[in-house]
Amino acid sequence: MSADEQVLTYPITSDAALDPPAKWAELRGKCPVAHVTLPSGDRATLLTRYADVKQVLADPRFTRLLNAPDAARLSATEDGGLFSSEMAAILPDSGEEHQRWRRLVGKWFTAKRMNAIRPTMARIADDLIDDMVKRGAPGDLKADLGFPLPVYVICDMLGVPAEDRERFSYWSDTLLNLTRYSKEEIDAAQAEFFQYMSDHLAAKRAAPGDDLLSELIAAGGPEDGGLNDLQILVTGMALLVAGHETTANMIGKMVSMLLADRTRWERLLADPSLIRTTVEETLRLDANSGFGLPRYLPEETEVNGTVLPKGTTVICSMAAANRDESAFEHAAEMDLSRSPNPHLAFGSGAHSCLGQALARTELQVVLEVLLRRLPTLELAVPVAELERVEGLAVGGLRTVPVRW
Ligand code: HEM
Repeated sequence: MSADEQVLTYPITSDAALDPPAKWAELRGKCPVAHVTLPSGDRATLLTRYADVKQVLADPRFTRLLNAPDAARLSATEDGGLFSSEMAAILPDSGEEHQRWRRLVGKWFTAKRMNAIRPTMARIADDLIDDMVKRGAPGDLKADLGFPLPVYVICDMLGVPAEDRERFSYWSDTLLNLTRYSKEEIDAAQAEFFQYMSDHLAAKRAAPGDDLLSELIAAGGPEDGGLNDLQILVTGMALLVAGHETTANMIGKMVSMLLADRTRWERLLADPSLIRTTVEETLRLDANSGFGLPRYLPEETEVNGTVLPKGTTVICSMAAANRDESAFEHAAEMDLSRSPNPHLAFGSGAHSCLGQALARTELQVVLEVLLRRLPTLELAVPVAELERVEGLAVGGLRTVPVRW
């Protein structure tokens, strides 16, 4: 590297909770393949252009083998949690086996099923809003609605009865907030969760229902092209980990982005047919989506004319790519009717979000119900006071104070 080459500290911070760092536009323009230092102190290569991020995510040479000896460590403390370890190894992560796993699990997320679960989701949202209203304004839209709703939806998807939802919430919270709980609490929660899922799976085998686990059981064992019991169990746990915090934070960010300029909220009240495209546009413009997607290169490869040596760790910033003028007209503007909107918030390629149909449905239903129930909704603090959570994996807001 030449002496005048700049090395940025990553993640790049932004002063405002909902706005992107100015550096993104500068990098896209002048330095689309940039050198960065990660929180661990290790070096990586940051990509910010739409075409580059999309190309890398589609290219299997950019692997997820981040535990390779020469791969960059993302953080100084090894806090990957449940899914950095033995659990993750139970599910296939690459090649034909991974594709087979995706096909099996993905079968559940059909458009027909998503439509069928809308009324249940709306009821969950209605009940949570009832509770928030009962407690009185101001409420915290993140704690009162954003966090519980996706757990309840995942419980329904896994056929877990309503009375066990709070235990699921606790387990999910413990697995995701490794800094807030003691090692003993985390170990105990993991063991309980694992035991619960084993018993639950046995019960589903005896009496199948209309849930994802029953469907995976019905597909047969490995000899029939299906999954073994441990793989089914870990798939259930993985769906909770992948689908809870992501969706929970996005609910808070989506509502904040829409209330930050209330003419947006009013436009939606006047024309709820914009809900679908609005959800996509908030996903595209989410300036606080987290770390980005890391990939590891076991062989030398070229991106955008730059040769990346073997052993490079690449960070794909989907959030920066989603604001690339060469992919989106008036990219910095929020256009509630933007269509098509091929944003990369759910990733792209072989690992793109398997639960995106569910996430989209949840975001649409939350918005529908909020517009109907609380048309006077507004932020209870100035936008400038919204604070980011600087989590490693998933970005979000600390709280979303609202009144109505
Ligand atoms: C707004 C909410 C969500 C966002 C922004 C999001 C984002 C993402 C992204 C960017 C990836 C790609 C990871 C990679 O390439 O390394 C991903 C993968 C995944 N997501 Fe989501 N996700 C969301 C909600 C959900 C939900 C609700 C579920 C299921 C209940 C889910 C399940 C998964 C799974 C299983 C994968 C791994 C797919 C694979 O490796 O083949 N996600 N998600």
